[in-house]
Amino acid sequence: MSTPVPQSGILNISPYIGGKASTDESAKTIKLSANESPLGPSPDAVSAVDAIKAELHRYPDGGSANLTNAIAEIYKLDPARIVCGNGSDEIISLLTLAYAGEGDEVLFTEHGFLMYGISAMSVGATPVKAAETERTADVDNILDAVTDRTRIVFLANPNNPTGTYIPQSEVARLRGGLRDDILLVVDAAYAEYVSKEDYEPGVELVMAHDNVVMTRTFSKIYGLSALRLGWAFCPPEVADVLHRVRGPFNVNALAQAAGTAAVRDQAHINRARAHNDKWLPILTQRLRGMGLAVTPSVGNFVLMDFVESGKSADEAEKFLSSRGLLLRGVAGYGLPTCLRMTIGSDEENHAVLDALESFLEK
Ligand SMILES: Cc1ncc(COP(=O)(O)O)c(C=O)c1O
Repeated sequence: MSTPVPQSGILNISPYIGGKASTDESAKTIKLSANESPLGPSPDAVSAVDAIKAELHRYPDGGSANLTNAIAEIYKLDPARIVCGNGSDEIISLLTLAYAGEGDEVLFTEHGFLMYGISAMSVGATPVKAAETERTADVDNILDAVTDRTRIVFLANPNNPTGTYIPQSEVARLRGGLRDDILLVVDAAYAEYVSKEDYEPGVELVMAHDNVVMTRTFSKIYGLSALRLGWAFCPPEVADVLHRVRGPFNVNALAQAAGTAAVRDQAHINRARAHNDKWLPILTQRLRGMGLAVTPSVGNFVLMDFVESGKSADEAEKFLSSRGLLLRGVAGYGLPTCLRMTIGSDEENHAVLDALESFLEK
């Protein structure tokens, strides 16, 4: 008997496993495993969701027009070049579907976001990884890894799970070294957290070139992960392609309403950024003080390495989990000696620091 067989490469995919949300051992959990915002969404976004409840029998606006216009206004972009998606994950998948296929290569960095490889394999393309230098994207290594078969280069800037970034000049150098028929996707999911002068999320490169796309998300600083909402800023030709391949109602009505309200409440975003700015140096310093190596992060999370501590990341994850503290093991990213911790509320961060101190003293 024959059975339906999926396209080649599909069964080689290791499914994406999200950050743990609960533990068997502890009733009360503190989830710092998925880079969510401790401040949650803008209250205006919650009210907008409430207001939609009476209209659940209606299809959403297929073009996400209000949302697109609000993003365009706040970020000062041409709305015709913005495409909204069911999370930036969907945009990543759609770009891969549209621009890569069997026999092609999709290039990204050694510890790059997992969805790039998953998307590549789901269309039969080959994922290719370029070595990083000090857990940071290395433009020379990326360019060296380009072949005749390369179709897409994904650059998470800043990257998850390392938290590192490369400056605008380096992203421009990367673009300059790529053939014009290779699509460069700058994934700026954590852009709102970055305060470095030499950082630029990708807008300027998209404006200047036909082969660059920037992706963004409402899951991180906007605190709307549950609704699944992301967007891309594209050259007009790429926007046209994405509109052809996306589902006709790919962004649901709750996400559209919440996103529209959230993007207009920049005071809330400033509060979230200030909280992150306060904690990033404190966490980095305290963890280093405990003998852990911490990769310099510009995002809303830190990557700590247990390699010099005499303890394993696995043991640490289990110890924390037994106390209801959920961090992210990142062995799947090729970082088996590390854990990633999302910056939580004051109370949550103190709880992790206290627990790690007692774990490392044991
Ligand atoms: C670098 C990066 N890109 C994209 C995403 C996907 O975000 P979403 O699909 O929630 O918009 C994430 C989520 O963790 C991420 O870390």
